Amino acid sequence: MTNESATTSSEIDQAVAVLRAGGLVAFPTETVYGLGADASNDAAVARVFSVKGRPTDHPLIVHLGDAEQLDSWAAIVTPTARLLADAFWPGPLTLLVERSSSVSLAVTGGRSTVGLRVPDHAVALELLRAFGGGIAAPSANRFGRVSPTTAAHVVADLGDDVDLVLDGGACRVGVESTIVDLTGEVPVVLRTGGISIDRLEEVLGYAVEVQVSAEPSKGGARAPGMLEAHYAPEARIILSSENDVVDVVIGALASSTGPVGLLAGTVLVGLPEDVIELEPAGTADDYAAVLYSRLRQADRLGLSVLVCVPPPNVGIGLAVNDRLRRAAASSI
Ligand code: TXA
Ligand code: MG
Repeated sequence: MTNESATTSSEIDQAVAVLRAGGLVAFPTETVYGLGADASNDAAVARVFSVKGRPTDHPLIVHLGDAEQLDSWAAIVTPTARLLADAFWPGPLTLLVERSSSVSLAVTGGRSTVGLRVPDHAVALELLRAFGGGIAAPSANRFGRVSPTTAAHVVADLGDDVDLVLDGGACRVGVESTIVDLTGEVPVVLRTGGISIDRLEEVLGYAVEVQVSAEPSKGGARAPGMLEAHYAPEARIILSSENDVVDVVIGALASSTGPVGLLAGTVLVGLPEDVIELEPAGTADDYAAVLYSRLRQADRLGLSVLVCVPPPNVGIGLAVNDRLRRAAASSI
């Protein structure tokens, strides 16, 4: 399904030229497409915020071409940061570290920390290595909406507001990177994502703290942007367990004025005829890979309601459950 080398070297050259000139380049990563700008160019970074419609105190992740660059972007590279970078980069893990003094406050939303990651995608790595510097990039969608996992999603969302879109096929992982804050006494997971908590703990050798709520009292304020209402399609999202799904669908059909759809991992039996079943999402890994496409499909089909049966809440399933919960919270 993925086509990670669809981009030609002249497209990479063109993308580098756009970045050097302060323009915006959307590029594929293994998680979602990013809306990239030269992280050292404040005017370019400001354009990212304005195109996304995102508050300027929500920091951007800086993407790097290799793990060695950690030394120039972090004030100090702790043994834990080195350990995790060595174990998971390139890969869907973002490390929050104290920023080095050369990192612009425009990127960090005025914070003393910076989020860094090396993406695991051939086109992203080629671009980063040809560019040489850091590329600041949020997901290439308008603020609060569903993240893009194909180049067509980016074009549909941002149109002419982005100077160049590199097409690297459909994103393999499909949900965003896991964010780990390394600036406290113990590593804290602020966003679940492509690297599971189990894998982090395996490498660290101890349990990590998980604080993925957006409520400041629960620590969510450490990652502004982790709003409860996020990842929102137009359709109203209702979550259901597999056991309750028939009743939930019947209830949705009774109360909704428009079409009702269903997204589940497998084909379910006993459903009312009127429900529009989207193609089953499969295992938790497959579910993550197709989640955002399915949410967009719900909107294309003009569904009023999409009932979702999430995968088990373990491994990457944690991230799928988190995104679905936020999408559901957005639609109340
Ligand atoms: O998979 C990903 O991480 C994708 C791809 C493009 O790399 N990027 C992504 O970026 O999801 P964005 O901007 O949509 O989400 C980044 C999250 C935001 O919630 C932001 O607040 C948080 O990371 N973040 C980034 N730097 C931070 C910092 N210094 N302190 C606290 N939170 C930070
Ligand atoms: Mg985003």
